[in-house]
Order: sequence, then C-alpha cells, then structure tokens
Amino acid sequence: MSQLLQRKPIAELIGETGGAQGLKRSLGAGDLIMLAIGAVIGAGIFGAIGTAAAGQLGPNGEAIRQGAGPALVFSFLLLGAACALAGLCYAELAAMIPQAGSAYAYSYATLGELVAWIIGWDLILEYAVGNVAVAISWGDYFNTLLRGFGVSVPEWLTTGYRTALLSADPKIHGLIASAPHVAGLPLLIHVPAFSIVMLITWLLLRGARESATANNIMVIIKLIALSIFVAVGATHLHPENFRPFAPKGFTGIHQGAAIVFFAYIGFDAISTAAEETKNPQRDLPIGILGGLAICTVIYIIVGAVLTGMVPYKELAVADPLARALELAGFQAVGWVVALGAAVSMSAVLLVFQYGQPRIFFAMARDGLLPKWAAKIHPRTRIPSTTTLLTGVFVALWALIGDAAETYDLTNIGTLFAFMLVSVGVLVLRYKEPDRPRPFKVPFVWPVCGLSAAGCLFIMYGLPGTAWERFGVWLVIGLVLYFTYGFTHSKLRAGVQRAHT
Ligand code: ALA
Repeated sequence: MSQLLQRKPIAELIGETGGAQGLKRSLGAGDLIMLAIGAVIGAGIFGAIGTAAAGQLGPNGEAIRQGAGPALVFSFLLLGAACALAGLCYAELAAMIPQAGSAYAYSYATLGELVAWIIGWDLILEYAVGNVAVAISWGDYFNTLLRGFGVSVPEWLTTGYRTALLSADPKIHGLIASAPHVAGLPLLIHVPAFSIVMLITWLLLRGARESATANNIMVIIKLIALSIFVAVGATHLHPENFRPFAPKGFTGIHQGAAIVFFAYIGFDAISTAAEETKNPQRDLPIGILGGLAICTVIYIIVGAVLTGMVPYKELAVADPLARALELAGFQAVGWVVALGAAVSMSAVLLVFQYGQPRIFFAMARDGLLPKWAAKIHPRTRIPSTTTLLTGVFVALWALIGDAAETYDLTNIGTLFAFMLVSVGVLVLRYKEPDRPRPFKVPFVWPVCGLSAAGCLFIMYGLPGTAWERFGVWLVIGLVLYFTYGFTHSKLRAGVQRAHT
C-alpha cells in the first residue's frame, strides 16, 4: 500500500526538465495566453452551447438532459466561478512543478503513484476524447460552410454512426437505414472530422514553435468571428425570447452547465507546456488566469445574444450560432461565422493534440508507459511517436463518434482531474509547507475546498451514462496499471533498490 502511495520528490521532477535531452524552452507569457484562448474557445461555445440551452432528447423522444434556456448566462457564471477556483489551484502547482505532465505530474508529487496514474489515464478523456468532440463539431461547421459555397456532400459521409444512432431527429436517425451498407453494417462516417485531425497531426509533427505561431493567428480569427456574431446578433434581439428566462429552473441551469463546461476546458492545458516555457514561475499563472477571465466575459456576451436572437428550443442543432443567424435572416453572416468557428476549433485541436503526447511522454519517462512513448525526435525535439499515435486514435474515433456523447465523457473526466488537483494543493501545503511557491492560492482552504466541491457538483449534472462509462474507463486504467505500470515504475524500482 505504501508503495502505491509513494510520492515523487518535487526536486526530482524539476531536475528531469531542461538539458540537451529535454524539450525546447521557447514560449513566453503572451504565447501562453494565446495558447489558453486557443484551447478554450472552440466547440463548447460554437457547438455544445446549443444543447446546453435547448436540452437533449433521445431517439425515442425521452429527455436525456434539460436545457438552461436564456438562463444559460447563469450556467456560464457558475462555471466561470468554479473554473477560476480550479485555475488558481492549477496555477500554484504548475508554477511550482513546471513539468510537461500537467495534473499527472502534480498528483505524482502530491497524492502518490496510483492517483497519478489514475489522473494520467483520466486526462486521456480530457485531451484525446475531448478532441474527438471538437473534430466532429469542426466537421459540422465545415459542412455548413460547404453548403454556403453550394457544395453538398452525401450525409452518410458527414455523419458518424453514433450520431445517427442517438439522434432524436428522424431524418438523421433514418440514415441508419438509408446509408450504403458494407457487410450488413451501415456506412456512416464523418470524413471532415477525420481529415482535420490528420491535418493537425501533420502540423504538430513539424515542431512546437511553428504550431504556437499558427495558434496565434487562429486566436485572432476566432475573436473576430465571435465579435461579428455579437455585433450582428445584437441588432436582432427579441425580448420575448428571454421569457421564460429559466424554463427548467435550476435543474436546467445545472444540466446546461454540465455540458457547456466543455467550453471552459483548456485553460489548464497550457500547464502541459510548462517544460517549454521560458519563465514558468511567472508566466504560467498569468497565462491560466488571464486566459480564463477573457473567455468567461466573451461567453456571457455570446450566450446572452444567442438566446435573445431566437427561441432557445431552435438551438438543438450541431451549428447553433450559424443557425441562429440564418433564422434571423443573416445567412451570409452565418457562413462567415461558420468559417471562424472552423478556424477556432482547429486551434483547439492543435493545443490538445499538442498536450496529449506530452502527458504520455511524462508517464513513459516515469516507466508507467512503455519506453518508446518517451522518445523525442532528434531534430524537432518533440515526442513524435505519441503525437502520431494520438492523431490516429482521435481521427478514427471522430470518424464514427457522436459529439454530445464525447462532450459528456470529456467533461466528467476533466472535472475529476480538477477535483484531484484541488485536493493535491491542500495535501502539498500540509506535507511540504516550506517549499517555495512562486504563486500561492489565496485563502487556500476555502478556495481548494470550494473548487473540489464545485467540480463534483457540476459532474453531478451529467447523465447517468457518462458516470457509467467513466467508471468503465477507470477500471480499464487500473487493470493496465497493475499489469504494466506497477512492475515498470522507475520510482518504485528506485525504492526497492534503496531497500535491498
Ligand atoms: N474548450 C474547448 C472547446 O470548447 C475544449 O472546444
């Protein structure tokens, strides 16, 4: 038991970074804020916001979740507050332990190896599975854009099998019968979603610096797209759309928040760039909290304009911002926003596809994953094998997956990681009170306690299926740990040597 709870000394964690074998330090505070916005504004605000406002029905008309309606702005406020608390916790640990593995590395130092493994495994849900949802949403906006150019692609090439299976829309559900069949199975694949992931993977394989520059350009474009939406949408607000303001009461606000939490994921992702940051102690807290504050303000404005433009029930679609503009008579503007949405989501894909291989890298360096996952390409100095592997995994899932289903799985996994990070800050304050902390969470006990409670509360707003799948995912992770990581862990090997 004590071996499972063995903690990795922080000095050792920090000592692993830098040097000729390490990753290249090329990012500053400005790059980090841009990376945070690049990761945060994406499928959540362009896609999941529709389901958060309108709710979701299953294929038999049963309610899977209630929507917030115009009270969505309260969902955003609730999430902004919860994420700010979690963001403070991330900032303390990220500045103290500037290492590539993010929450994985922090929990290794605070809560021990078993919890670290669980978090690392759990982060696959945030990064890789999250990107499946983003890729599908990207593909849906791309289709809107193609329609704008008068190009129509057969629906069986732009709809994943899971989406058709779960849809309450008879037209989409009917694709299962009408799509071409191969060996008795319906051929329902989302080719745009697959293709964008492969393209992003190729970009990342060229090296981190080029990717950060591409991200900066995409961030500017996404801010312009949302500004256009707000400026045009604000000319078409109808007060009657705000009545009733909270059609499903607090349940709607809560369940809406649980899905649109996806829009906030990512501010923590920049902590995975800690090893590639020039001055992590100063720059990481600025990047995380600055990025989060900017995004919260933008979301509240977009949410208020969207639900004021059209009746919230109209928003249960894959491309709610473009749909709202279309219904309001601004179809051409809708296409422009669709273009901006596609660009925005490319930036998100980039940051997450960047983060996932670095978490694998950190886990492999500790011996919890096979050695080949810790290999760094000699020229580009990036973890190229895991970058490619992540790309193929995400692309294949996006080919047949469903966005709402993957939002849920990503959200539950991420909230769980946030919760453990919050607890980790407290544990480390207690166990190593004198360690220098370049950034300290103010009022640490109430802040960390509320952060953990807030995350649990948001998780509680997710459907039962999300909890079941999350449970299965964790069990698979534990089996892998006890069959591989437990026997290969470098930390445990060191401990055993010290004891013999
Ligand atoms: N927050 C990111 C998005 O909304 C993951 O796409």
